[in-house]
Amino acid sequence: MTNISVETPNSKASSGAPSAAERFGVVDMPSLEYTEEVARETAPLYEKVKHHIPEIEWPVHAPYVHAINKLKKERNAVILAHNYQTPEIFHCVADFAGDSLQLAQQAEKVDAEIIIQCGVHFMAETSKLLSPEKTVLIPDMKAGCSLAESITGEDVRLLREANPGVPIVTYVNTSADVKAESDICCTSSNAVRIVESFESDTVFLIPDEYLAQNVAKETSKKILTWKGHCEVHERFTAEELLAYKEADPAIQIIAHPECPTTVTEVADFTGSTSGMIDYAMSQKAGSKVLLVTECSMASNIESEAPGVEFIKPCNLCPHMKRITLPKILESLVYMRDEVTVDPVMAEKAKLAVERMVNLKTN
Ligand code: 13P
Ligand code: SF4
Repeated sequence: MTNISVETPNSKASSGAPSAAERFGVVDMPSLEYTEEVARETAPLYEKVKHHIPEIEWPVHAPYVHAINKLKKERNAVILAHNYQTPEIFHCVADFAGDSLQLAQQAEKVDAEIIIQCGVHFMAETSKLLSPEKTVLIPDMKAGCSLAESITGEDVRLLREANPGVPIVTYVNTSADVKAESDICCTSSNAVRIVESFESDTVFLIPDEYLAQNVAKETSKKILTWKGHCEVHERFTAEELLAYKEADPAIQIIAHPECPTTVTEVADFTGSTSGMIDYAMSQKAGSKVLLVTECSMASNIESEAPGVEFIKPCNLCPHMKRITLPKILESLVYMRDEVTVDPVMAEKAKLAVERMVNLKTN
């Protein structure tokens, strides 16, 4: 890894202000009793999560699942969930689940007045940028991201001033303020192709230092970066993965590109969360795969890959885990927390996201 240079982080992210309750009204909190009707109607959903939620716990989750699914229809709302959401959200209430790029594409496509974003703040902001006419709610406004918090719009302006003519590609895991200062956004599934879409030999890919280093291995471009890290993926080490491999050489190691290059170098495959899912699902029955990423993801796909054994070194994202069934229900009942973006900033940030979505690189 030689074509990398790093800047120093300096943090802050933006936030929205609630107001949707006035426009849509609030409703009464539905009953959360585990009735026969609730048991019957949620039984097919329990089948999907029964390997992760003990039967004795289902009466706690089921009334929320039932109430959320009923209320989201009445409110004309859709639930978009990231692959790192817990199984009861991913399988039982999400209308669409996917990686960051897929969620952004869905936000534009869905025919609904309200989006409930089950993920972190930058994802909700991206949905709002692409669909300003829709009301975007996040069940917990504090669901942030260490990458988004590693850099500000002002940092990007200074980088541009100091490096005139060098295109700036910004990972979608950033605030609208940062996106607004960028030429284009990327996600982990399209970063290489976005970087290569520029004629310039040198390209900034910020703020994830490790994503930039992993992309630099796949391109001849000189990649400049920033010192932001994902607090989930930076914790994996090559040593721990090699220990698994030593114990069983047949284990396939599948890593996310937010991991350090020392980790991706020992992986059999590196890709975005959806790329990791596709790779894991393509393994034959009897295979063993180790997913080097947030640990809910293996639980979410386990039931859909029968015969494949998932090994889960468990690193949880504390921000993703702020989203829970009770908070999703509260979002729908009280219409909170609404994610808004300053219109001038939104116009600029939207251009960077749209350039990515329209580049058809995925
Ligand atoms: P992707 O789903 O785009 O791979 O992103 C991973 C991630 O860490 C999102 O927070
Ligand atoms: Fe951010 Fe990492 Fe959590 Fe994704 S997993 S939201 S990149 S801290």
